[in-house]
Amino acid sequence: MGTLTMDIQKEVLSCIDNKGTLSSIDIAKLINVPHQKVVGAIKSIESLGNIINVKQDLQKSWECTEEGATVAEDGSFEARLFNSLSPEGSPVAEIKANFPNANIALGAAMKNKWVKKEGEKVVKAMPAIEDVVQLHLKSIAAGDTEAVPDKIKADYKKRKLIKEVDITFFEVTRGSDFTTTVTKQEGELTKEMIESGLWKNKSFKPFNFQAKGRLEQRSGHLHPLMQLRAEFRQIFLEMGFTEMPTNNFVESAFWNFDALFQPQQHPARDCHDTFYVAEPARTLSVPEDYLQRVKKTHSVGGYGSTGYQYNWDRDEAHKNLLRTHTTAVSARMLYKLAQEGFKPSKFFSIDRVYRNETLDATHLAEFHQIEGVIADYNLGIKHLMGVINAFFEKIGITNLRFKPAYNPYTEPSMELFSYHQGLKRWVEVGNSGIFRPEMLRPMGLPDNVTIAAFGVSLERPAMIMYGIDNIRELVGPKVKMELILDNPVCTLNKFRRKEQSSSGGGVTVEALTKRQELILDRLSALQSKVAHIASKMGITLEESVASRPSQATGIPKPGELFDIVIYADPRRPPYSIRVLANVISSKLKTCMRVHCHSTVKEVSEKLQQFWGENSGVDRSVCDVCLTLVWRQNGDSPTSLLPSLSVSPLSATQICGEHNIGRYLSRLAESLSLSSNLYECLSSPVVIAEIDEHLDQCHARLLLGTNKDRASYVKSINAKLEKGPFIAGSNISLADPVIISTLLQLRLVDSAPNNVQNWVKACLNLPICQNLIL
Ligand code: PHE
Repeated sequence: MGTLTMDIQKEVLSCIDNKGTLSSIDIAKLINVPHQKVVGAIKSIESLGNIINVKQDLQKSWECTEEGATVAEDGSFEARLFNSLSPEGSPVAEIKANFPNANIALGAAMKNKWVKKEGEKVVKAMPAIEDVVQLHLKSIAAGDTEAVPDKIKADYKKRKLIKEVDITFFEVTRGSDFTTTVTKQEGELTKEMIESGLWKNKSFKPFNFQAKGRLEQRSGHLHPLMQLRAEFRQIFLEMGFTEMPTNNFVESAFWNFDALFQPQQHPARDCHDTFYVAEPARTLSVPEDYLQRVKKTHSVGGYGSTGYQYNWDRDEAHKNLLRTHTTAVSARMLYKLAQEGFKPSKFFSIDRVYRNETLDATHLAEFHQIEGVIADYNLGIKHLMGVINAFFEKIGITNLRFKPAYNPYTEPSMELFSYHQGLKRWVEVGNSGIFRPEMLRPMGLPDNVTIAAFGVSLERPAMIMYGIDNIRELVGPKVKMELILDNPVCTLNKFRRKEQSSSGGGVTVEALTKRQELILDRLSALQSKVAHIASKMGITLEESVASRPSQATGIPKPGELFDIVIYADPRRPPYSIRVLANVISSKLKTCMRVHCHSTVKEVSEKLQQFWGENSGVDRSVCDVCLTLVWRQNGDSPTSLLPSLSVSPLSATQICGEHNIGRYLSRLAESLSLSSNLYECLSSPVVIAEIDEHLDQCHARLLLGTNKDRASYVKSINAKLEKGPFIAGSNISLADPVIISTLLQLRLVDSAPNNVQNWVKACLNLPICQNLIL
């Protein structure tokens, strides 16, 4: 190979020596070597220094199609037909049945007068033929496109035998150091070369710093089930749950059943349902005093229960088995909690359990359970339902149904169902209940302690999310490696808004339509308000604004003012609203007030002056009244959100600083009080970008985890590398809203440089002057 390429290089150089200037295509023809090889040789010579000068260019050329290549190789169909005919000829029907592309072949062979019909037979019409088509295609395959006249090429193109392509070629001339003798360059300096001194006479290949590294780096991949487990774990952690240790796959019947007040005759304990362990067959120890209390509760009762009234057998309880549910782990954990002194706690586990089941498309003898346990004083069923709803909402399932059920260890018990869009029916997703006193009291837990719990399988949602309907494609030896390598990290849509989510995931048209209706309602309410104020102020609105059909739910009567009330939590002051209030009050008679709701004991001087020192005009003469109410609604992320309502159109309730920003800037801009922050920017692309940022700021920065926040700040830092503002080349609504959010979360000081500089620059702009209190 090495010498061969060296030979081609030499031939190329001698061609140039003879002719001066040549194209790589001509060289290929001259030395009868495929063009690609000549290009390779030219590149190698070029890398040696100034031996040749090279200019790259494009040229249209022709190439055989796949079919054309077979013709070049084996002959045209008509020639193949001719050659296949015996002296007696063949019946037409037989040719049509057996010969590939019989119609084309027959047609062309007849047209060329190579064959003729005799009755039902086709026979040769001449002794020998010349297959010009094959010769032509051979020339084209060899790169000699000029050998075929253009008209014929057009015909071959129609027959899909050849196609037009752009080929890159090189124009080569002599360089300043032109020579026809090239020496092979060494790729490596070896120990031997140094020892013998041979290196002195060698020339070496220069390092290629442009060489690309290996593109794809192989690394470990999490199995889809484990990816999903990581996401569920994250949800539990976000909700304040602590993970239980689940590393004991072999468990005693005592913890798996007896501790859970499951009678020893219960069918689930049968070896047809449970795998018992042969070695070691028995557990070493169970806390004796606790065991005695469990025995008593089962056999004679206690704590207000009559028990099951049977002879409880210690031997049965000591049997080892593969745990059949993670509730065994919860039992151990709750016993420990009782021993250490009870305090309200939330626990979760996600791990493997085993059942002796008949295997089918959706069942294996092992699967994963997700279990949540909430321990507190006086919990009731509504607490359990609340936690379960909150948990499922985080994975995008909002329409849960609860069905009364029976478990030996819970009362009441409820199975959980969710509507599956794909299957179009309600599917069971889990089980839940309040642990019975017969289970908790023997552990030593006080009698006013109640414990609610729920269990869900991990495989079921995984199959739904990855669109798998046979469990064996997800678990076990038949799993395809590609599933693990190629599947995107499955992300539960944790930020999906209520109106958008539906069971089975995905944003449905229905949900979107509802959202659109909501927005349209709000808009038309706003329009009527605007029209009202405009008429009061003697402003003529643009045709398009004034004539939109108003479906307002309550058009304010003449003389009524535009009354906007904003509720906000003093721990999260919505600073960006001040920017918009400024725009509005600069043109309209605006009354601005601050109130304190009874849920707020005290607010600082600054917050009381939220609208600034000079807060507008008297209410009796104003057009717009902006009232800010400091209110504390709770500690959850969503109850910290500000909200806006417009009176008397109380149906208009807008939630979140980003949405309030949108609303107020629309209000300002439809009154021709251009703030230049939002709608006024004519480019829909920029508006879409602003919207995207407002939503991202809300979901990732405000409501996200610390990781989400960090990645969002990083992304805007990168964005600010390219331009001075978040969206487009001008300041927009996105800038003050994001700055406000960063300020509330106290993230400005720790932010990377671009972000800090951008905050400073924005605060210096007149429009943002009073952003900070
Ligand atoms: N252990 C139950 C099961 O295996 C699930 C469950 C957990 C039920 C907690 C109630 C409370 O199906």
